[in-house]
Amino acid sequence: IPNKVNSICCIGAGYVGGPTMAVIAKQCPHLKVTVVDVNKDRIAAWNDECLDNLPIYEPGLSEVVAEARGRNLFFSTDIVSAIKESQMIFISVNTPTKTYGVGKGMAADLKFVELCARQIAEIANEDKIIVEKSTLPVRTAQSIKQILSAYQNGCQFRVLSNPEFLAEGTAISDLLNADRVLIGSEDDELGKRAEEALVDIYSHWIPKERIIRTRIWSSELSKLTANAFLAQRVSSINAISALCEQTGADVDEVAHAIGMDSRIGSKFLKSSVGFGGSCFQKDILNLVYLCRHFNLPEVADYWEQVVHLNDYQKHRFSKKIIDTLFNTVSGKKIAFLGWAFKKNTNDTRESASIYIADELLQDQAEIHIYDPKVSEQQIFSDLEFLQNNRREYHLNNTSQFEAMSMDKIRKLVHVHSDPYAAMHKAHAIAVLTEWDEFKTYDWQRIYKDMLKPAFTFDGRNILSKRMLDEIGFETYNIGKGD
Ligand code: UDX
Ligand code: UDX
Ligand code: ADP
Repeated sequence: IPNKVNSICCIGAGYVGGPTMAVIAKQCPHLKVTVVDVNKDRIAAWNDECLDNLPIYEPGLSEVVAEARGRNLFFSTDIVSAIKESQMIFISVNTPTKTYGVGKGMAADLKFVELCARQIAEIANEDKIIVEKSTLPVRTAQSIKQILSAYQNGCQFRVLSNPEFLAEGTAISDLLNADRVLIGSEDDELGKRAEEALVDIYSHWIPKERIIRTRIWSSELSKLTANAFLAQRVSSINAISALCEQTGADVDEVAHAIGMDSRIGSKFLKSSVGFGGSCFQKDILNLVYLCRHFNLPEVADYWEQVVHLNDYQKHRFSKKIIDTLFNTVSGKKIAFLGWAFKKNTNDTRESASIYIADELLQDQAEIHIYDPKVSEQQIFSDLEFLQNNRREYHLNNTSQFEAMSMDKIRKLVHVHSDPYAAMHKAHAIAVLTEWDEFKTYDWQRIYKDMLKPAFTFDGRNILSKRMLDEIGFETYNIGKGD
């Protein structure tokens, strides 16, 4: 096992693997970095001459790719050669929630990770360091190690856990100025050598004191715990938002007041229509599954409630729209501003908008969507995925409804590239993503162009309520009582 490496690769060119490797390549010009993926289209997009066509939208990413690509950063579908050539291999493949069999709807599906481990074991012709980047349940490193050692091809392997804490939309700055880098390693001499090799890479730009070294289980569990705590803050403030609406308090004022307490802190207290993204729900469900597995039902129930509350928040928002529009949205035109799960990303996984759309479609609404970065194809694929997996998620409200046909959905859902067209003659507008551009629209013009009464439902509290009230809109905001 080398304690310094000059060639690395990453299996999985997604939202984590792509930006992470691009930044490593930028910061370590001497290091050859190859990113591989089974998905040919995705690799082609990463290699596209035109940087607007990268498969991921992330502020600052195209500049980093422009600088490093072709110099020491390469994207390829040749997984075999990449594994052979690299002394260190990052595994950054997707680990979705299982939609079948044991642990369905709860446990992480590790089949892609397992495949990677087997492939590495088959191909490796010299010692390798394997770095677990994907979010994985505790003790996955053990399973990877077991697979690797079962092949007995004369090579040594050491597994490191190096969870990624970047948030989408701020990935590049999160990677460049990480609060910390966490490395968990096996407690033997070769494990320590592997750890040194990874510390050596990060040391090119991360101050030594921000590189934390732990035992491997602590590292794996810290990733799940960090996401559970972050999600818990959002559910906590969202729970209070419901109470604010009943009592006449204002959730933003409450968040500001409690956030000034340095023990609480001001970040991550923005009340919303519900958290989304590929990580929060999945990681909490993983944690819950692990706790049940280890016979800790009280702990499992505690964390599960964070997901229940998030479902409640999404449901509350859809219900508010239906109730306010005189108890039915059938045949009514509802404009959606935003489809991504947060601003500055084209990622839509678990976005609240999908679930809001679903509840409104069940009530036969006509939905007109505008998002600055999400494609029409993605929106229909999100809605289709939900129809096919409705019963697999044991937790959310969606399982109470029947699946809808895609024909029907295509009749009711329209995707626009011009926001004003999406809002033309609408009964109501729902703001579902906090994109900055929504604040700068000509709201006077939008009001004139809508049916009256003109309703706005601001699921992100980004539009000025006073401005909208003055224009004449009927406004609803999360967590603002009268
Ligand atoms: C609390 C609030 O901190 C304070 O702002 C409010 O005005 C009154 O209630 P207090 O109960 O005096 O203050 O003490 P605090 O330091 O909050 O501790 C409360 C309990 O939590 C103690 O039993 C303490 O041991 C425990 N605690 C606190 C922990 O177990 N772990 C911690 O990390 C912090
Ligand atoms: C999260 C973690 O932040 C990151 O550390 C981890 O590596 C991956 O998971 P991400 O899901 O990309 O990152 O975005 P994040 O900024 O955490 O937002 C998650 C969701 O919570 C979004 O839907 C966002 O809108 C919502 N959110 C966040 C709120 O509703 N209110 C807040 O105050 C913060
Ligand atoms: P994340 O947000 O964790 O990065 P993504 O779904 O964006 O998740 O990216 C994961 C990538 O991993 C996908 O592009 C997928 O094609 C790729 N992938 C999954 N399994 C394998 C595998 N066995 N070999 C190579 N690539 C894989």
